[in-house]
Amino acid sequence: MIELKQVSKSWDGGQSFAVKELSLKVEDGAVLALLGRSGCGKSTTVKMINRLVDPTEGEILVDGVNVMQQDPVALRRKIGYVFQGIGLFPHMTVLENVGIIPRITGEESAAYRKKADELLDLVHLPAQEFAARMPEQLSGGQRQRVGFARALAADPSVMLLDEPFGALDPVTRDSLQTEFKSLQRKLGFTAVMVTHDMAEALLLADQIAVMKEGLLVRIGTPAELLADPGNDYVAALLETPRRHVQLLRNLENRNA
Ligand SMILES: Nc1ncnc2c1ncn2[C@@H]1O[C@H](COP(=O)(O)OP(=O)(O)OP(=O)(O)O)[C@@H](O)[C@H]1O
Ligand SMILES: [Mg+2]
Repeated sequence: MIELKQVSKSWDGGQSFAVKELSLKVEDGAVLALLGRSGCGKSTTVKMINRLVDPTEGEILVDGVNVMQQDPVALRRKIGYVFQGIGLFPHMTVLENVGIIPRITGEESAAYRKKADELLDLVHLPAQEFAARMPEQLSGGQRQRVGFARALAADPSVMLLDEPFGALDPVTRDSLQTEFKSLQRKLGFTAVMVTHDMAEALLLADQIAVMKEGLLVRIGTPAELLADPGNDYVAALLETPRRHVQLLRNLENRNA
């Protein structure tokens, strides 16, 4: 379980807050989507969970333990972290990228290789074909899969995903979303996923938390938000997927 209690973050010594008195809980095995406009504090929130950023105030508990009482490096090895655009080591092969955490935590070469092979299979990148490639020899979607596999290598009970599907084409995005959901069900990890896309949040999340200027303005299940957005900001975010559905229906009707 992940629990945030009255968490605030100021970058300027308390004059303004990127995140303000944020409290929420993510139950074991649940997926929480964090949604809101650019700059509202989503990435800052996620980074406070694995201590890439330390909160100014409040408490964050992962599996009941305050993250501030844990060694940041050990904590980050335990928590899977996937973010868009980064982060494969360009001078390492796919296999080395996926195996990096088991390797630095001292697993035997044969053991980490086997594990990396299995993880590559899991994300549908057969080791035979992909293990020896360099990141630059992969498509964006394939890189993203390697990023997933690497995050899964530490058998994390918690995964943090910051716009993991952001820059992918719609078809690749759709298939990775589906795979993410089935992996999450199979492996049972707890996840916090940042997204700009309300449709994605509705499809993948058990709970949706909407932020605005550092504040939590609404939290609920997809069904709860759809039934009652609670305020205009959330209503506006729900409008986009609704409009898309409506446009498609209109087109279908016209062509029928
Ligand atoms: N290292 C930093 N130093 C100073 N200010 C920062 C730092 N990181 C983020 N901020 C500020 O904190 C606020 C929240 O940023 P954050 O990255 O959390 O937004 P976000 O919701 O993830 O936005 P986006 O959707 O664009 O990724 C912004 O005003 C940003 O400029
Ligand atoms: Mg961000």
